[in-house]
Amino acid sequence: MTSSTSPTRKLFIKTYGCQMNVYDSERMAEALAPSGYEIADSAEGADLILLNTCHIREKAAEKVYSELGRLKALKAENPDLKIGVAGCVAQAEGDEILRRQPLVDLVVGPQSYHRLPELEARARQGAKALDTDFPEEDKFDRLGGRARARRGPTAFLTVQEGCDKFCAFCVVPYTRGAEVSRPAEKVLAEARDLVERGVREITLLGQNVNAYHGAGTDGDWGLARLIRELAAIDGLDRLRYTTSHPNDMEDDLIAAHGEVPELMPYLHLPVQSGSDRVLKAMNRKHTAESYLRLIDRIRAARPDILMSGDFIVGFPGETEADFEDTLALVREVGYGQCYSFKYSPRPGTPAAERAHVAEEVKAERLARLQALLAEQQEDAQQAMVGKSVGVLFEKAGRMPGQLVGKSDHLQAVHVEAPETLLGRIARVDITAAAPNSLAGRLSAK
Ligand code: 5AD
Ligand code: SF4
Repeated sequence: MTSSTSPTRKLFIKTYGCQMNVYDSERMAEALAPSGYEIADSAEGADLILLNTCHIREKAAEKVYSELGRLKALKAENPDLKIGVAGCVAQAEGDEILRRQPLVDLVVGPQSYHRLPELEARARQGAKALDTDFPEEDKFDRLGGRARARRGPTAFLTVQEGCDKFCAFCVVPYTRGAEVSRPAEKVLAEARDLVERGVREITLLGQNVNAYHGAGTDGDWGLARLIRELAAIDGLDRLRYTTSHPNDMEDDLIAAHGEVPELMPYLHLPVQSGSDRVLKAMNRKHTAESYLRLIDRIRAARPDILMSGDFIVGFPGETEADFEDTLALVREVGYGQCYSFKYSPRPGTPAAERAHVAEEVKAERLARLQALLAEQQEDAQQAMVGKSVGVLFEKAGRMPGQLVGKSDHLQAVHVEAPETLLGRIARVDITAAAPNSLAGRLSAK
């Protein structure tokens, strides 16, 4: 069946959470295109609404149920409207969603998106459709090639999914399953296709992306080899990857940061805590010291790399002294940009069963940590003033005549520049810094 034989129907996807969900939403839209669906910008007037959910944050399931409640009015207006829940909440809650919210027609877990057309057809016939399997077949194979439309200059590309690490606080190993890497040839083909369609920068995605081990043309390839091969694609100017575990930062990957010019000087490497006691309780399998020495090695390979990370405060058992170890680690690393969270229990994870730190203590620690991280971010932004950086222009700025792009270090940069530079990289001299963006002018040469 092709879209030319089906009436056009409108699909609205609301995406929550991480970049992998952004990527998955694009692929779901592509999977449903042959069923006659076109993407719509709003839920009003849609024939199918999918909530692509995230389970990492607190009360994720409750938030999905209240969002579903808000869709009730739309279903009353249009009885043909079908509503689906995808993503990690779908995986975690399963048929509980269908039981609790009769509004929902289909539930699909992250490993089953290639089965969406089938599920949608079943829902259209009035059945409730559920698929939260971890199927043997490769969903990316079945999702097929991406539609060949021209697109913006940056793209995400999932190369690995799932996680075998089982950090004591985290639902990912349960919702996304065991680590699976896509074959290198598939990744390269998808990257070439993206580049032909205008993409200049690709961010490789995986829950544990630096654990990538995919089948290559001459045996197993790690992430470093994959990056080197991707960098050789003509027109692919920038590569990034996220997110990584310290224990999978192998020597050849560290070396690639010094040797592959396309690999951008920004690395998100979560440590979660600076206390060895807490790291052990989190089942992180590394120490604060081993993380610090790892960063030394990364910086030896790429001195200007901007470090990013994730932190959890108030993990069960965390004392004031443990928290101060986290502050000390942050001071020693000097981050450019970080994410930090209060610990919140996820049902089914080991830490959820433990005695919790009081809410006020968590809030107070988070505020202290965030103040320090904000200071470091400002320092990193200020340090860019007077430097010349590469900027990939992505869109028009708020001011007329202005474009906005991202620096090599992933900072937003506002520049007066002609529209012809959209989708292209230019050298920019940074003239001013704000906490979340930079301003600059095009370099003379
Ligand atoms: N509570 C708080 N933060 C969490 N994260 C993951 N699980 C939890 C939890 N239960 C954070 C971690 C992780 C990021 C994606 O979300 O810092 O690196
Ligand atoms: Fe979760 Fe990351 Fe730990 Fe895996 S490595 S369990 S995704 S926090």
